[in-house]
Amino acid sequence: MGEGIQRSPNVVWHQSQVTRELREQQAGHRAAVLWFTGLSGAGKSTLAHAVEQRLHERGVRTYVIDGDNVRHGLCRDLGFGDADRVENIRRVAEVAGLFVQAGVLTLTAFISPFRRDRALARELLGADFIEIFCDTPLDVCEGRDVKGLYAKARAGEIPSFTGISSPYEAPDDAEIVVPTGSEPLADSVQRVMDWLIAKDLIQGDER
Ligand code: ADX
Repeated sequence: MGEGIQRSPNVVWHQSQVTRELREQQAGHRAAVLWFTGLSGAGKSTLAHAVEQRLHERGVRTYVIDGDNVRHGLCRDLGFGDADRVENIRRVAEVAGLFVQAGVLTLTAFISPFRRDRALARELLGADFIEIFCDTPLDVCEGRDVKGLYAKARAGEIPSFTGISSPYEAPDDAEIVVPTGSEPLADSVQRVMDWLIAKDLIQGDER
């Protein structure tokens, strides 16, 4: 799995008796990765956590892997240069893949600005990868500037800031596009829930 050299060739994959399918049957829903992508301040984390809450209320096993949190631990050694962002996304895709094997409906919230890296995650996760584009325009994100980072980036205090001094490559093949810049949060949550029900990932009837 993943790119690069495997430095431990004498390790054999151990197959679990408790399979993903058994876990999914027990839970009564499918496992997958809802991969939220978009600019900083686009509303990825807000939407991911709001969707998670709705899912949790319905008894779905969920977990949100959040960019801001992962960078305090798993990816604390990574910065925002291109190579580090690639590695950030690779690690997250691998971890999300493990969560899927655990039968969890996993939500990830990362800018994941490069098309190539998201393609890598899609390749790794296959049909389990569901890309959700939080389509908030740059001027709206910058206007919100919740963390004050756009102001700092404009002042030249943050190098390679996405949207300002580093590119964001919008997806053209996202499974779900959410107008997070203009739509009320509740409508965005419903949009994602409707998609999950339509694709039979979760049951349609309220439990
Ligand atoms: S990603 O590009 O590697 O996917 P990630 O989602 O993990 O980024 O982290 C983005 C968050 O880190 C932003 O929401 C912002 O709070 C913070 N951040 C700090 N420096 C930068 C930067 N140079 N570019 C973008 N976000 C940054």
